[in-house]
Amino acid sequence: MAQHAKITLPQLQAMKERGAKITMVTAYDYPSALLADRAGVEMILVGDSLGMVVLGYQSTVPVTMADMIHHTRAVMRANPAALVVADLPFLSYQVSVPEAVANAGRLIKEGGADAVKLEGGQAVVPAVQAIVAAGIPVMGHLGLTPQSAVQLGGFRVQGRDEAVAAKISADAAALVAAGAFSLVLECVPAELARRITAELPVPVIGIGAGPGCDGQVLVYHDLLGLFDRFRPKFVKQYARLGEATVAALEQYRDEVRQGRFPGEEQSFK
Ligand code: KIV
Repeated sequence: MAQHAKITLPQLQAMKERGAKITMVTAYDYPSALLADRAGVEMILVGDSLGMVVLGYQSTVPVTMADMIHHTRAVMRANPAALVVADLPFLSYQVSVPEAVANAGRLIKEGGADAVKLEGGQAVVPAVQAIVAAGIPVMGHLGLTPQSAVQLGGFRVQGRDEAVAAKISADAAALVAAGAFSLVLECVPAELARRITAELPVPVIGIGAGPGCDGQVLVYHDLLGLFDRFRPKFVKQYARLGEATVAALEQYRDEVRQGRFPGEEQSFK
């Protein structure tokens, strides 16, 4: 059960206005949501990064609506106080506006999420407007948008040249005009992110976007050292739980082999 009241959109907005930093982290299941909430983060993202760090895909592209609903429901069973945003997966919102609204509705009705996130700029504005008009809060995602990483030339910094930087700024303004309550800026130069954050009236959450954003988001498995297939430069590892887990499993294996587990304490009379 949540120990504190649910974080609301006006509270996040107020944090931006008073310059208080917002912390967001991904979670994909019941235990990770419980731990993130216990740590007191303001926002949990059920990111489609789950495709890579939980399901073992090479990218987020194969993630389905069924995957997102399954994991969002598990997160919501932790009853987090953090505001929970669930990602709309690739091709769940690009085909048509009615499909985008229906799929956003599924993440809310079936998954139990508080809000949805989708990637892209001007091209997704009609979908954002329609989802917001249906009463669902929408978070945008600009810069490096992993669902279209191939089109962007790979997982690389976006907006180093002026034309792309100007497009990201224009897209950000368009998403806010369409009703987005917040934006993620991924892998853009720190100065561009700082400028966009200062210009926009809504909270801007950065990942690989420098310290000038209103808040930060990291992938749970990255920050805890649970995923080492690759580590982007912007990740800071706050723990090495992967190594600690292997060490614990090795000790367990050894104790079973040596007949030292279970001992008296773990046995019934
Ligand atoms: O899916 C995800 O985890 C994300 C973050 C990288 C922002 O979209």
